[in-house]
Amino acid sequence: MIHFSIIVAVDQNYGIGINGQLPWHLPADLKHFKEITCQTSSPSKQNVVIMGRKTWESLPEKFRPLPNRINIVLSRNKDLLLPPNVFKFESLQKTLQSLELRNLRGIPEFENVYVIGGEQIFNEAIKFPECQKLYVTHIQQSFDCDTFFPPFATAFIKQSSSAIAQQGGISFSFTQYVRKSS
Ligand SMILES: NC(=O)c1ccc[n+]([C@@H]2O[C@H](COP(=O)([O-])OP(=O)(O)OC[C@H]3O[C@@H](n4cnc5c(N)ncnc54)[C@H](OP(=O)(O)O)[C@@H]3O)[C@@H](O)[C@H]2O)c1
Repeated sequence: MIHFSIIVAVDQNYGIGINGQLPWHLPADLKHFKEITCQTSSPSKQNVVIMGRKTWESLPEKFRPLPNRINIVLSRNKDLLLPPNVFKFESLQKTLQSLELRNLRGIPEFENVYVIGGEQIFNEAIKFPECQKLYVTHIQQSFDCDTFFPPFATAFIKQSSSAIAQQGGISFSFTQYVRKSS
């Protein structure tokens, strides 16, 4: 069974997005996201990032595909066009099966797998037992949001949390949760 992690930033109400974008401007969290999702034990390996089609489209064109990571976009649209180095799958289940079999053609060896959003993909991914870890940036404010992260307290337990930091008047902390053993 191939394990994966979710990485997300949430506000006080577990809001994650508004109008197809992030509700806040928090460069420290983007840096954290980059560090976690790029970090591998060997420079010859990359990590996989799995995202929904809307999150893909939310990335500015000059920043996509996310560099030094194997980008996978989930979409049921057979006509969706993506750059040649980006993989498309029609379901999370099929993505995980392919990763498990290591039968993605033409990609370097990968190390960790991260599901990076948005709401639709998080809602589905968090139910998979393969989802063993959550990297949650807790932003200690309320923003206007139209997309949310699902409740997870019954299935996950806090593993560690950073000190509270501040940037641009926004307080936040980086917290990790692991799936409770059943
Ligand atoms: N705060 C954070 O950490 C964070 C992280 C990521 C995103 N976001 C925000 O979240 C918002 C986007 O979330 P969203 O829920 O609207 O969109 P999304 O989850 O990014 O993408 C939804 C799309 O993914 C495809 N999809 C969904 N479930 C699928 C499945 N089971 N199998 C195959 N394809 C599937 C569909 O694409 P087709 O319609 O093409 O079939 C669907 O329209 C944005 O505001 C974004 O900025 C926030």
